Amino acid sequence: MAPDAPVNGTRIIADRNAPPISVVGIGADGWSGLGSVARETISGAEVVFGSARQLELLPDTITAHAQEWPSPLLPALPTLFDGYSGRKLCVLASGDPMFYGIGVTLARLFGAERLRVFPQASSASLACARLGWALAEVPVVSAVGRPVETVLPELAHRRRVLVLSADEHTPGRIAELLRGNGFGESMLTVLEQLGGPRERVVRDRAATWELAAGDPLNVIAIDCVADPKHPRATRVPGLPDELYGGDGQLTKSEVRALTLAALAPAPGELLWDVGGGSGSIAIEWCRTHPSCRAVSFERLEHRRRQIADNAAALGVPHVGVRAEVLTEVGKSTESAPPDAIFVGGGLTQAGVLETCWSHLRQGGRLVANAVTAESEALLLNWSAAHGGELRKFQIYRAEPLGRFTTWRPQLPVTQWAVVKGDSF
Ligand SMILES: C[S@@+](CC[C@H](N)C(=O)[O-])C[C@H]1O[C@@H](n2cnc3c(N)ncnc32)[C@H](O)[C@@H]1O
Repeated sequence: MAPDAPVNGTRIIADRNAPPISVVGIGADGWSGLGSVARETISGAEVVFGSARQLELLPDTITAHAQEWPSPLLPALPTLFDGYSGRKLCVLASGDPMFYGIGVTLARLFGAERLRVFPQASSASLACARLGWALAEVPVVSAVGRPVETVLPELAHRRRVLVLSADEHTPGRIAELLRGNGFGESMLTVLEQLGGPRERVVRDRAATWELAAGDPLNVIAIDCVADPKHPRATRVPGLPDELYGGDGQLTKSEVRALTLAALAPAPGELLWDVGGGSGSIAIEWCRTHPSCRAVSFERLEHRRRQIADNAAALGVPHVGVRAEVLTEVGKSTESAPPDAIFVGGGLTQAGVLETCWSHLRQGGRLVANAVTAESEALLLNWSAAHGGELRKFQIYRAEPLGRFTTWRPQLPVTQWAVVKGDSF
C-alpha cells in the first residue's frame, strides 16, 4: 500500500486493486441478530478483526483468522492491515459502524470506496426506542476516550442528551459532573447491553446517585433539570464572568460577546487566540459547536494553566494551549492555517500582527481589541493598509453607590475586524 497525499487533513491509503474491506455492525444480540448478508460476509472472510467482546459473539462455525484489536489501535492500523494484504477482510463494529465507530476511522484511512459497510441499529437508536425519545432531537456526546466534561456545553433545562460511556464508571462520573454544574436534579437513565439478553435499565437523580457500577457497555440518557440559582452557561457567547477562574485577565462578558460575533465561528473552524489570558475567547469559540477547534497562545505559565482549567471546567478540554510567542513572520510550530485569529494581547509587540496576518488563511477573519492609545494607533494604521472595520465600545455596569445606583464605566475597547483578501 502506498500512502497518498493528505485529503482534507485525512491520510488516505489508496490501493485501487485491493479487495474491499467489509465492516459489519454487530449488536449485543450477536450472531442471532445479524441479517443473512452480514452473516455471509463474515462467513466468507479470511480474517475477522474486532474487540475480544465482539469476536466472542461469533459461532464456532466461523473459521476465519480472528484478529483482536491491538492497543493503542489507531497508530497500529496501517501496519496491521498491510500484514493481511490481498486477503478477504471483515471488521466487526458495535451497532452502526459509522456512528462513533471504527467505520469512520477506516473510511478516513482507506477511503469510502474501499469499504462495504453493513450497519446494525446504533446504541442511540436503541436507547431512543426504549425511552420514546425523538432520535433526531437528541444530541449524542461520546465519552469514549474523552473527558466527561465534554457533555457540559450540551446541558440545558428540559433538554435530553445521550452519552456514550467509556466504561462502567462513566455514569457515576456524569452524576458528579451534573451535581457540580447546577444540574443535580437531572434524571439519569443508564441503559446497559441494549438489544442483548443481559439488557438492563437503571435510573436515579444525579443528586442522589449511589448505584454501584454496572455493565461497561452502556449509554446514559440525561433528562436535564437546571438549578435556577446556578449561572446559566449556554452556547451563546458572553458567558457570565464569574464562570472563569484565574487572575482576572479576562475579556469581559459584553466585549467577549461582541468579539465572538465579529469572529463569526462556523462548525469545524480553527481559531488562534493570541494572548489567551483566561482563554475565554478560545473557550467560547469552541462551545459554539462540538467540531470547532482553537489554539490559545499565552506566554505566562500560570495563565496557560488557567486557560486549561477554564477550558475543562467549561466543557471544551480540547482547547490547545501554547507557550509559543508569535513574533517571527511566517514562523509557527502550528501547521494548520487558522480560519480566524483573535489578538487580545501583545498587539504592540514587534511582529505579532505581521505573524498572525501571514498565517491567516486567505478569506479568514482577524479581530484585534485594543485598550491603550498605542495599540489603538496600531490598529488605525493596519486598517488604513488592509481595510476592515473599526469600532469602539464603551460598556457601563450598574453598581450601588450608597443607597443609589451608579454607572461604572469599563475601559473603552477599540476593535478592528478584517477579512484577509477583502479589497477595499
Ligand atoms: C465507540 S462507541 C460505538 C457506538 C456504536 N457504533 C453504535 O452504533 O452505538 C461505543 C459506545 O457505544 C455504546 N454502546 C454500543 N453498543 C451498545 C449497547 N448494545 N448497549 C449499550 N451501549 C452501547 C457504549 O456507550 C459504548 O461505550
